[in-house]
Amino acid sequence: MAWKVKEEPAPGGAAPDVTPQGEHAPTGAQNIFELQAVSVRYSGNLAVKEVGFGVPTNRITALIGASGCGKSTLLRCLNRMNDLIPGARVEGTITYKGQDLYSPRVDPVQVRKRIGMVFQKPNPFPKSIFDNVAFGPRVLGMKEDINLLVENALRRASLWDEVKDRLKDSALGMSGGQQQRLCIARAIATEPDVILMDEPCSALDPISTARIEDLMNELKDRYTIVIVTHNMQQAARVSDKTAYFSVEVGDNDRRYGRLIEYDDTERIFTNPSDQRTEDYVTGKVG
Ligand SMILES: Nc1ncnc2c1ncn2[C@@H]1O[C@H](COP(=O)(O)OP(=O)(O)OP(=O)(O)O)[C@@H](O)[C@H]1O
Ligand SMILES: [Mg+2]
Repeated sequence: MAWKVKEEPAPGGAAPDVTPQGEHAPTGAQNIFELQAVSVRYSGNLAVKEVGFGVPTNRITALIGASGCGKSTLLRCLNRMNDLIPGARVEGTITYKGQDLYSPRVDPVQVRKRIGMVFQKPNPFPKSIFDNVAFGPRVLGMKEDINLLVENALRRASLWDEVKDRLKDSALGMSGGQQQRLCIARAIATEPDVILMDEPCSALDPISTARIEDLMNELKDRYTIVIVTHNMQQAARVSDKTAYFSVEVGDNDRRYGRLIEYDDTERIFTNPSDQRTEDYVTGKVG
């Protein structure tokens, strides 16, 4: 799937090729995102300062840290959702498959198609189960057979068997855990490369949470997942890489988030190199 760019000539030459290589980047050590010196401000106030790390392809990366350290802010940078927040400004560099995600020639709508998002509270549309999943492909004018697309997305979200006989029923009649899997199916339906999840299980019971975690493990063969979670056990269970952020207090008592440590999840939870990480993951501070 080509990543559409706006049809403007590049300054000083032909437009660069921003077409990703293949439908899904190959599994391997390569990073799908690279962040360098990423700072985010809201109406001029610093929220996240100079964050840099790489998100590996077809792996699960967890963002952890105390409330207000900028996890959601950073997650929204990865699919340009902050564009939709008045006053939000992103500085630094974020590349997606080697291309500048914030180039004026990149179409944010196409970005959000490639990089889907699942939120804390399941938020199905007040439509049928079928129409929820079909929504993205229809808006984007995807040419594939819509019935097949919906079925595949529901299967991949391990929801098909539960809903195949009631696809026309309202999504609002589903349980919370089913609704969240429906939201994952909705995100998958547009064939993204990446799924961003902001505390996707915080409104769910332990059984529904376990189902979503199992699902994440199944999905990572095909997708790169970045998850924000306050649940340390969840980060330790599901993720391959973990980034720990803390809240720093700057001039005038202004608070902003910084990346303290980023490493393999196992290392972050067993032998972190920064005392602050250790204090957080062992529950000494929080
Ligand atoms: N839409 C917004 N407008 C203004 N400021 C915002 C906005 N969203 C976040 N902020 C500010 O940015 C900082 C980081 O917030 P963010 O929501 O990213 O933190 P978080 O780590 O996700 O917290 P939590 O764990 O509570 O969800 C906070 O100081 C917050 O007040
Ligand atoms: Mg948040």
